[in-house]
Amino acid sequence: MTGNLIIKNAAELVRCSGFKAKCGSAMSELNIIADGAVIIENGVITAVGETSELAPKLEQPGFEVIDASGKAVLPGFVDPHTHFVFGGYRAEEFYRRLRGDSYMAIMESGGGIVNTVAATRAASESELFELGKARLDSMLSFGVTTVEGKSGYGLDEHTEIKQLEVMAELDRRHPTDVVRTFLGAHAVPKEYKGKPDDFIDFIISQVMPKVAERRLAQFCDIFCEKNVFSVEQSRRLLSKAKTLGFRLKLHADEIVSLGGAELAAELGAVSADHLLRASEKGIADMAKAGVIAVLLPGTAFSLKENYADARYMIDQGCAAALATDMNPGTCFSESLPLIFALATLYMGMRPEEAVTAMTLNAAAALDRADRIGSIDPGKKGDIVILEFPSYKYIPYHIGISTVEKVIKNGKLVFDKHGAGKQCYQN
Ligand code: NIG
Ligand code: FE
Repeated sequence: MTGNLIIKNAAELVRCSGFKAKCGSAMSELNIIADGAVIIENGVITAVGETSELAPKLEQPGFEVIDASGKAVLPGFVDPHTHFVFGGYRAEEFYRRLRGDSYMAIMESGGGIVNTVAATRAASESELFELGKARLDSMLSFGVTTVEGKSGYGLDEHTEIKQLEVMAELDRRHPTDVVRTFLGAHAVPKEYKGKPDDFIDFIISQVMPKVAERRLAQFCDIFCEKNVFSVEQSRRLLSKAKTLGFRLKLHADEIVSLGGAELAAELGAVSADHLLRASEKGIADMAKAGVIAVLLPGTAFSLKENYADARYMIDQGCAAALATDMNPGTCFSESLPLIFALATLYMGMRPEEAVTAMTLNAAAALDRADRIGSIDPGKKGDIVILEFPSYKYIPYHIGISTVEKVIKNGKLVFDKHGAGKQCYQN
């Protein structure tokens, strides 16, 4: 569904202009227009400028008109790292962590990801669809118009494919665009306990080719971590994925400094994610190779770990993006405003950099900076209207959404003050 829409009189039109990731100091360039207007035709942005400058075009018949006086207007937010389709919950494990058990200790004692695997294997497609839909609705209320979702709670052929099919169906039926990532190597399942190499062989030979053939995922990812999958195993799996046409991502250097950032650069991955313990060399390699650093401060917060050093990465010339990592274990939250607040309060990111990190650079982390992530003619009409006059209110209203309206392909799909709030039709 696409629409014809005019937005005018925006106190701040935060364009985030660009068609590729912004690195280093360029991340602070937001290209803001005061008293701005946007025209969207058939779901695509066709004109952007000052309201007075576009005035003759703002009175056309056949267009919805939104007066954004006193409000900031931004590109729809992109959440480029989530695990939002899963069965069951792990509140008991969270409770254990509050009493001092570590995430890895829980995993090593038979809990963690494999718990969610059991519940996801047991869930039907329609149950997963309904759970996923409710989570996408929640994300939409935070302004998310494109989200990445990973498999990885199946670890067998049937359930990995089930998760990806559910995401494909959500992409078709929900206004939010869902970009799919195959994360078959998320953990070693019980059937392969103590045999991670055999499990990698199984994923490479049995599951990955089917996912590729059916185009069920654009990206392939792996949890490269001590006691999960080594750098060597990750290189083997991702190299194979590359030959099958997948673009690459890595869960890298989250808990131990293993060399995931270096591997991401070596393989030309689109992004390396987490990076709490990335080495200086790994960061330099990523900057040189143009690998986007997808930073997940909600996870560091929830795990009580030190945050990734966003300031250092940006100063070294990296392009950084921000994401929720929404998942049932390490960060059960879809709140982008919380992520924004953590990034600016604890990771040394400037608010302007954080805006770029959840728009243009997040789009680039999904290989879509040519289509979304900024308010530029030719891009999708995906827009967020805040209830305040400036993006500066996003971290200031801590953890609370400042989003009043969300537009997808030129259609209003969420209105905080509307009767139904979610105003899209399935
Ligand atoms: O990104 N680190 C690995 N994967 C997820 C956690 C998944 C889980 O605990 O269920 C993450 O943090
Ligand atoms: Fe993750």
